[in-house]
Amino acid sequence: MNKDSINNYLILLLAGNGSRMNLQNGLKKQFYMIENKPLFLYPLNSFIKSKIFKKYILVISKSDEETVKNYLKENNMKENIDLVIGGKTRDESVYNGLKYLSHFIKDNDKVFIHDSARALIDKDTIIKLKEESLNYDAITSVFKVYDSLFNNKENRYVNRDDYLKIATPQVFTYSIIKYCFDNLNFLSTDDYSKVLEYQKINKNIKTEVVEIPSITFKVTTIDDLKMLIALIKENKEYQI
Ligand code: CTP
Ligand code: MG
Repeated sequence: MNKDSINNYLILLLAGNGSRMNLQNGLKKQFYMIENKPLFLYPLNSFIKSKIFKKYILVISKSDEETVKNYLKENNMKENIDLVIGGKTRDESVYNGLKYLSHFIKDNDKVFIHDSARALIDKDTIIKLKEESLNYDAITSVFKVYDSLFNNKENRYVNRDDYLKIATPQVFTYSIIKYCFDNLNFLSTDDYSKVLEYQKINKNIKTEVVEIPSITFKVTTIDDLKMLIALIKENKEYQI
């Protein structure tokens, strides 16, 4: 297989409600303004800066369509960006993105799936993941665990070196992740878990974990948001 003929596509998820953040007036975290830009533009900008993508799919809620279009226009985003309507769960949103891609993607092309709530991702990490993805059917970003880890159910400490925190981006060969969504019917909070399930019955599937900087944490609570704002203000790399 000629690796140069593999195209990369991004599915960026912004169809969630941000209910745990509980912002005023029901504002969704992906539209929170930081330095005059809505939060979701920060990760999108990094993916665009990596210059490795053929197309960017933003998965949004129907009610946000005009808002997102306006933000893209205001910020001169003339890239190859398409909008797809998401679903009630993260799984449904991803699946809608994957089904939309089926119209033009090739089986061996790569799909990056990323939570827009993980606002801080740098272009070098994206490029590193692209290189790694060429050797596997599925890869997931991970963070190491630095806290002591305790199994409360069994009332005992566990060895933290045995554990990793799952993050995004996750990168998949299109035909593999599409097969998983078409055929494996269980709810999950990420997509790599689906491929691991499939791997149980298809031992040829190759998977790997890739450590990325923990700055790509998921903004879930107000404290996370405060941390994100401070990091963007002090770090030119992430400013738009
Ligand atoms: N997401 C999505 N469609 C959904 C649910 C979630 O596209 N139906 C996206 C979110 O926009 C987010 C990512 O999946 O970027 C990770 O989800 P999470 O952090 O849980 O965000 P929300 O679901 O928006 O927040 P909450 O669970 O607190 O409501
Ligand atoms: Mg959620």
